Amino acid sequence: MQHPSASERRQSVRTGVVWTAVSALLDEPGSYPEQQARIVDIGGGTGGFAVPLAQLGHRVEVIDPSPDALAALDRRAREADVADRITGQQGDLTDMADLVGADGADLVLCHGVLEVVDDPAAALASIASVLRPGGHLSLLVAQRHAAVVARAMAGHFQAARDLLDGPDADRHRFTAEEIGPLLAAAGLDATTVHGVRVFADLVPGSLLDLEPGAASALAELESAVSTRAEYLPLATQLHVLATR
Ligand SMILES: C[S@@+](CC[C@H](N)C(=O)[O-])C[C@H]1O[C@@H](n2cnc3c(N)ncnc32)[C@H](O)[C@@H]1O
Repeated sequence: MQHPSASERRQSVRTGVVWTAVSALLDEPGSYPEQQARIVDIGGGTGGFAVPLAQLGHRVEVIDPSPDALAALDRRAREADVADRITGQQGDLTDMADLVGADGADLVLCHGVLEVVDDPAAALASIASVLRPGGHLSLLVAQRHAAVVARAMAGHFQAARDLLDGPDADRHRFTAEEIGPLLAAAGLDATTVHGVRVFADLVPGSLLDLEPGAASALAELESAVSTRAEYLPLATQLHVLATR
């Protein structure tokens, strides 16, 4: 068996908690006939999640405004031999309802996108409108408190101070307390919240590359702290599963 490269090991430390939660959701007995959920990955970029989900047998539609990202997605899907289960469509959150159509989606992934849109509440309302009743949202957002710590540790004290004062200072990062009400306003119930990358961004990459077993030990530690409320404010990202 081929060993994962250093960059694959680092990537699995960063995304392991999210992957475990999403794949467990899809794996629930009787949820999706013949393992074929209809998944929409809004702002799915080059397919970092879309391709492995298609490898599980699901149908994944990536909607993204970037033609370059969609070209890379297409290459990646062909290399992984899942091109028949992945569609890339150029568009953004405002096109979602038209692109998804009346049938709706079982699962929408929105990873790293709420941070870049002007109106996160409107974005969540668009997502809710394309979910089938009982459908799920996998939401990954940047977490504000960790961004303050990261800026301070890099010596950017004024930038840290500017971020400190909450939603008015920074509408593009979120806290665990803000996410629930934001989802509820869109008609979505948050079912789980995980902290993602609590330690991963603080550990030198060279340690993970050189120390045998370090990456998998760190991935286990990330998993262990991901559900501990006291560690949520330290997490670079929050992963929320929500249901319509
Ligand atoms: C930080 S990347 C995240 C990519 C991918 N979801 C991931 O987790 O690796 C943000 C993505 O959102 C896309 N994007 C930017 N504005 C968007 C919008 N208004 N609607 C949908 N996607 C958007 C970008 O093209 C980019 O691919």
